[in-house]
Amino acid sequence: MSAKNEDSLKNIISHAKEYGFVFQSSEIYDGLSAVYDYGQLGSGLKNNIKEYWWKAMTQLHENIVGIDSAIFMHPTVWKASGHVDAFSDPLIDNKDSKKRYRADVLVEDYMAKIEGKVNKEIKKAEKRFGDAFNEAEYRKTNGRVLGYLEKINTIETELKTCLEENDNNRFKKLIEDLEIACPVSGSRNWTDVRQFNLMFNTEMGAVAEGASTVYLRPETAQGIFVNFLNVYKTGRMKLPFGIAQIGKAFRNEIVARQFIFRMREFEQMEMQFFVKPGEDKKWYDYWKQNRINWHNALGFSENDYRFHDHIKLAHYANAACDIEFNFPFGFKELEGIHSRTDFDLKSHEEHSGKKIQYFDSEENRNYTPYVVETSIGLDRMFLSILSKSYQNEKLEDGSERVVLKLPHFLAPIKLAVLPLVKKDGLAEKAREIMNNLKFDFTCQYDAKDSIGKRYRRQDAIGTPFCITIDHDTLNDNQVTIRNRDTMQQERISIDEINNVVSKAVDIKETLKKLN
Ligand code: GAP
Repeated sequence: MSAKNEDSLKNIISHAKEYGFVFQSSEIYDGLSAVYDYGQLGSGLKNNIKEYWWKAMTQLHENIVGIDSAIFMHPTVWKASGHVDAFSDPLIDNKDSKKRYRADVLVEDYMAKIEGKVNKEIKKAEKRFGDAFNEAEYRKTNGRVLGYLEKINTIETELKTCLEENDNNRFKKLIEDLEIACPVSGSRNWTDVRQFNLMFNTEMGAVAEGASTVYLRPETAQGIFVNFLNVYKTGRMKLPFGIAQIGKAFRNEIVARQFIFRMREFEQMEMQFFVKPGEDKKWYDYWKQNRINWHNALGFSENDYRFHDHIKLAHYANAACDIEFNFPFGFKELEGIHSRTDFDLKSHEEHSGKKIQYFDSEENRNYTPYVVETSIGLDRMFLSILSKSYQNEKLEDGSERVVLKLPHFLAPIKLAVLPLVKKDGLAEKAREIMNNLKFDFTCQYDAKDSIGKRYRRQDAIGTPFCITIDHDTLNDNQVTIRNRDTMQQERISIDEINNVVSKAVDIKETLKKLN
């Protein structure tokens, strides 16, 4: 990560803490690694993101329904899903620093460094050739760039083989051949590569009664698969149909870093779309497009999102890609779209002994549906929004302000109600206005400090509108409304406030872009 990007992540982390968005878990005990709590504003923002996803899935699609399944599930679920045997990451330790790494991440970071060199060459050439510069042509013809790209290609192919074959010895050799050094100790004194299962487990029931091992679910998807028959039958569903769920997931990640990007306890928003076999490719393409539209509707730059096809397909998939987002530490996975075949339903059928099939009344036959899954981490989505919304602006008068340019409908507080002074009946008038508006959107009352300071506080938490109640308000029933983004102020009548704010913060406007 460049120094500039490192600073930008640090600023976001400290801003998130200072204003009550995200706190380290158990902070008074020095924290718990890779576990975070959402504060008074963070939980509001998180709930609004959930609402956006939930409505886009279940309200806009009449063939998608939502469920809320338990975190604990029968242990055989995880045998059937393949997680007991195959949900592991390759880990390696550096003997000098005693630091633990994911072997594939070490290699990916190495490739990213070469990619950085390619970008440097391109930047230099861009400067040299000016408007006449053609990047695509340069990538194809410049010897140095070609050399770098070929190297990346070769490493990527070898990495894919190591991952696909779970070949730990080959992995170690790759790390040695590339002469990758530990970022902390600088040494190449590595242990062997080993596979590490990421599931947490615990005991259910008292030991005397014969407690059994249960897992904290590493994905919410299995709660959907095991409820396929229940929902299909009770909901009288017809293919294609989807089941959506938002809930906690747990992974004992080897390397936890980058704030809420990689956590040990996190939240997923997953949707399994059940389709007729043979139609999986069509629906995979549909959901790729649908999901990228959902992201783009937020109004950030479309260049901040890109697709990345998986180089290692999970044990259940016949096609898979990520939507990557340009986080402060570069492009990384935000969401996965996976064509999971009939693997899960078939496997649960085998392990449970229950017939898990769909009856197609048009074809008069039973079959196991195929599944296309969309799976997004809520916390990563939160970080993506926070990092793009956070802006340090230089104003015309030379001063600076920190403003969170959150999409209006996601802002935890929609309107700040500010009496110019507490006396002369202004506080009472402000309370009266707020008491009328609080049924329509979240308002915050603030009467402390100068009006300028109060505006800055609201900018910093992303409140789209502030209204100021002054002495004139008592006579003309008008307030000054200030727009967070333009900082423009205008007088409007008290009766108009609800209309102006409701229209601007309504989730409906964004949902309409998806239709
Ligand atoms: N059911 C499929 C599945 O779980 P995944 O790619 O392992 O697929 C889906 O995870 C999404 O969950 C990821 O794209 C990411 O946004 C989020 N995610 C996964 N591990 C995470 C972690 N340790 N911390 C935060 N988010 C995570």
